[in-house]
Amino acid sequence: MPLLVKNGEIITADARYQADILCEGETISQIGPNLTAPPGADVVDATGKFVFPGFIDPHVHIYLPFMGTYAKDTYETASRAALVGGTTTTIEMVCPARGDDPLAAYELWKSQAAGKSACDYAFHFGVTRFDADTPKVLQKIVDDGTASFKVFLAYKGAFGVDDAELFRTLELAKKLGVIVTAHCENAEAVSQLQQKLLAEGKTGPEWHEPSRPPSVEASGVEHLATFAELTGAHVYVVHTSCSDALRAARRAKERGIKLWVETVAPYLVLDRTYAEQPNFEGAKYVMSPPLRELPHQQAIWTALQSGLIDTVATDHAPFDFAKQKEMGRNDFTKIPNGIPSIEERVHLLYTHGVAKGRIDLHRFVDLAGTKAAKLFGLFPRKGTIQPGADADLVIFDPSYRGTISAKTQQMNVDYSAFEGWTIIGRSDTVTVRGKVQVQGGKFIGDPQRGQMLRRPATHG
Ligand code: URP
Ligand code: ZN
Ligand code: ZN
Repeated sequence: MPLLVKNGEIITADARYQADILCEGETISQIGPNLTAPPGADVVDATGKFVFPGFIDPHVHIYLPFMGTYAKDTYETASRAALVGGTTTTIEMVCPARGDDPLAAYELWKSQAAGKSACDYAFHFGVTRFDADTPKVLQKIVDDGTASFKVFLAYKGAFGVDDAELFRTLELAKKLGVIVTAHCENAEAVSQLQQKLLAEGKTGPEWHEPSRPPSVEASGVEHLATFAELTGAHVYVVHTSCSDALRAARRAKERGIKLWVETVAPYLVLDRTYAEQPNFEGAKYVMSPPLRELPHQQAIWTALQSGLIDTVATDHAPFDFAKQKEMGRNDFTKIPNGIPSIEERVHLLYTHGVAKGRIDLHRFVDLAGTKAAKLFGLFPRKGTIQPGADADLVIFDPSYRGTISAKTQQMNVDYSAFEGWTIIGRSDTVTVRGKVQVQGGKFIGDPQRGQMLRRPATHG
């Protein structure tokens, strides 16, 4: 059924104007003033609302075996949460254990999503070892439309690669024309610091940050940048949390290295004191890299304004407080790492960015979707509003005021890191390829609407 969105104010990364949008089939067919609804069309009145291109979260974990447990969401719950939060496309990290067969892992991750996602989705493939078969395997995965890799410089003994593997992955990525996303923390330094702190009896969640200080993250970024320079690979630093890492990224960019920077929603609004709360409450706020002292948060906002940071993702990795975070009650290194935020990302960025005057609407759209679409081979199908693009729209009500609570969230996890916080504005109506999936902030759509997006290699 055609869909006509009337009287909205269209906002993209580089334009702002009043017009109607006609969606036919799965794409946008016309944009202009006073469009007439074809027979049988659904009409959505967007008077007083912004119309944004559907947002993209380029770093999520949904199926995630990690630290002796599994992340809580399924594609059913995570994709609904994404949609009510204005995200119409997710890119999930495929994270095989080092000993896993990589192609079997890829199929397993795909099977977790197939027919179960309400929003569109894609994958970054995690290279967690590099052996004689890897070039052939990665070629197959790129041919299947997963044209980006992930490497971990952290998580020694789990997902982490050694330097020889990192070098060869980047060399191969350069040859295949794909971008490599990277978790940048020096694994050995983390491991040594963890052991030292535990030996001193420092076992609570408040010691997580001191075990992974800013210098450890900056060293990871510098290391990645050096290897990118030597191989010519294009790299993307995930979840950047601190000014030290931002400085390392800026120096790399100034040297001409093709390097892009992501931060994630928790770093925009939370700081280290949250992980220092008594009675193990701090465990809710354990993620890696860790929440930092406030000046780092200010540096992140400055980098969002200046353009040094390219994207705002979530690194959504939900673990229940009651049974899962609890696994690390006597040893912070065993607290499953992750702060759930797939549902809140866009609304937090709007509330604390746009509404506070820190970023304008165009920067907001770019950070929350358009730049990710460009970097990961989805543009202009996703990330903008133009004829021919997928009809993924977020009709956003800037006058809405609401409160975040675990009681009302879609995410399948027993707490909210933002419990009781006010949000300004809401994704009122959200469409995925022309179908209304969210209305009045509630999921009302087709739970199986989502398709896997096959992406070309665009970093040649
Ligand atoms: O704490 C985090 N970041 N958990 C998810 C795994 C990762 O490092 O991305
Ligand atoms: Zn990571
Ligand atoms: Zn992650």
